[in-house]
Amino acid sequence: MTIPVLTIDGPSGAGKGTISRAIAQKLGWHYLDSGSIYRSLAIAVLNRGTDIQNAAAVAAVATGLVLEFECGETLSVTLDGLDITTQLGLEETGRVASTIAAYPDVRAVLLQKQKDFKQSPGLVADGRDMGSVVFPDAAVKVYLTASAEARALRRYKQLKEKGIDAILTQITQDIEERDRRDQERASAPLMVAEGAFYIDSSVMTVDEVMNEVLRLIH
Ligand code: C5P
Repeated sequence: MTIPVLTIDGPSGAGKGTISRAIAQKLGWHYLDSGSIYRSLAIAVLNRGTDIQNAAAVAAVATGLVLEFECGETLSVTLDGLDITTQLGLEETGRVASTIAAYPDVRAVLLQKQKDFKQSPGLVADGRDMGSVVFPDAAVKVYLTASAEARALRRYKQLKEKGIDAILTQITQDIEERDRRDQERASAPLMVAEGAFYIDSSVMTVDEVMNEVLRLIH
C-alpha cells in the first residue's frame, strides 16, 4: 500500500507549521517538522561547542543525533534526554540552523531520518525541500509563501504574545537574510518543487489556507 504524503514547503514564517499541524490532526496523519530537526542539530552543535564553520564536525554531530519527537497539540523535542523545546524557537537557533543546513554532508545524514517519518496512514511534511528532495513522489505538493513584511509582522506578534521584546525592522532583516541563505545555497535550496501548488498567504486567514490545501488533497 502506498502511504500518501503531503509536502508543504516555503520560507520562514509563511505559516507552514500551523497549517501542516492542523491538517495532520484533521486527517489523523503523522507530521514531520523538518525545520525542527535542523534546529535540534543547531542546539546540539552549540551545546557541544562544535565549530559551526566546520562542516565535517557538524555532520559528525548529525550522525550521532538522537532525537525524540512528541507531536501532540504542541511539539516537544528531547535531545540526549533533555527537553530542548523552548530553545527550538529562539532566533539564534534558527540562524545557526540555516548556516549548518547549507552543508551537503549534513543534509545527507539527515535525509534518511526524515524519510523514516513516512508511516501509515499518511504524512504531512513541512520544510524547504520536502517536495523537491525528501519526498519527490509526494501525492500533493504545496509551496506556501507570504511577503517578507507579512511574515515579519506575524513573527513580531507571536513574540509579543509570549512577552518577548522584539524590533520589527530587525525581524524583517533577519527573515530576508534567512530567505537569501536558504534560496542561494547549492544543496537543496528553497524552491517551488515540480508540480507544487503555489499559495501566497499574505492576505489570507489560517482557515482560508487550510480550506485551500484540503481542497487540493481531496
Ligand atoms: O523552518 P525553520 O525556520 O524551523 O527552519 C530552520 C532552518 O532550517 C531554515 O532556515 C533552513 O535553513 C533549514 N531547513 C532546511 N530544510 C528543511 C527545513 C529547514 O534547510 N527542510
